Amino acid sequence: MTILVTGGAGFIGSNFVYYLLEKHPEDKIVCVDVLTYAGNMATLRQAMQNPQFRFYKTDITDRQGINDIFEKEHPDIVVNFAAESHVDRSIENPEVFLKTNILGTQVLMDACRKYGIRRYHQVSTDEVYGDLPLDRPDLFFTEETPIHTSSPYSSSKAGADLLVLAYHRTYGLPVTISRCSNNYGPYHFPEKLIPLMIANALADKPLPVYGKGENVRDWLYVEDHCKAIDLIIRNGKVGEVYNVGGHNEMKNIDIVKLICKELGKPESLITFVTDRKGHDLRYAIDPTKIHNELGWLPDTKFEDGIKKTIQWYLDNKDWWQEIINGEYQNYYEKMYGNR
Ligand code: NAD
Ligand code: TYD
Repeated sequence: MTILVTGGAGFIGSNFVYYLLEKHPEDKIVCVDVLTYAGNMATLRQAMQNPQFRFYKTDITDRQGINDIFEKEHPDIVVNFAAESHVDRSIENPEVFLKTNILGTQVLMDACRKYGIRRYHQVSTDEVYGDLPLDRPDLFFTEETPIHTSSPYSSSKAGADLLVLAYHRTYGLPVTISRCSNNYGPYHFPEKLIPLMIANALADKPLPVYGKGENVRDWLYVEDHCKAIDLIIRNGKVGEVYNVGGHNEMKNIDIVKLICKELGKPESLITFVTDRKGHDLRYAIDPTKIHNELGWLPDTKFEDGIKKTIQWYLDNKDWWQEIINGEYQNYYEKMYGNR
């Protein structure tokens, strides 16, 4: 079987590529990634040695380029990770989010219709459901929770989800969608909370916590997300949405304190900065459906996953230091300079 993975040079996409190469060595993996600031060939160095893996530097909004790849590779399954993924960047510049996340999804699905496909899988997010109040720990996102987005990022992901479901109903395209909570693990780009705090703490730099740090996210080790997607593309029901999350809610401030403790750094590095505009309060997934239908359960407990992740950043300083020494410095200055 040939599986086309878009966004495979990014955080979750690359973890998925490695997951597939290990779990399904009989499958051919075709990776499509345009290598934005978030894509990194260093991440795919090992995969490039594998004869089952092929890489194309192509934009998912490039219809001709995508059609050419379909004609050459005849994918059986497409898994679309390619996206602009950072909420803070979407607040600064929404346009590229709409282009990649919505129009890119359309181009991929049009190619699937044109050349035929066994499954198109859209990697979505729990952020399409908006947020939950902090004082109602009894509430969770189910697949029936209405779409109710807050940021340009989540709106673009929700727009794509609606288009995916429309292509299923209108054209009969065999689609599935997964909506996952926050991931953490190796190859996470250092603009996101956990790797940013690890990198700053190691450099004894301030740890910028938005608002009071009371916002809650539901963290899942990236490999557990990969396992869920693999199950959905092979055994999931066409036309269905699956929520993915491991019931691991944490306040941002508690995560940052934990990172300080693990690295032996003082909590005095924590600096409270101006809150994110429209900042979602709490995300929390009810994963009952994927558990009951596909038998999925997460393998990695947060206390183990966060230790493994911190160790990965200690062991792979070259990978992230190369990133933070480049264009990232301008980004950091712009976002945090006067905050
Ligand atoms: P990421 O930003 O680390 O990686 C995105 C990848 O997509 C990069 O390699 C980038 O080069 C590529 N890309 C961007 N625009 C492209 C385009 N126009 N054409 C081709 N490639 C393009 O993102 P991530 O955190 O790995 O997220 C992957 C997917 O998972 C996204 O769709 C995101 O919405 C979803 N998701 C992420 C999380 C999370 O916690 N990170 C949680 C739930 C869902
Ligand atoms: P992030 O990793 O950007 O993921 P998302 O916004 O998609 O959940 O942020 C996770 C949480 O951490 C979110 O509530 C915002 C907060 N945060 C900070 O407090 N400081 C930071 O520097 C960053 C990047 C995020």
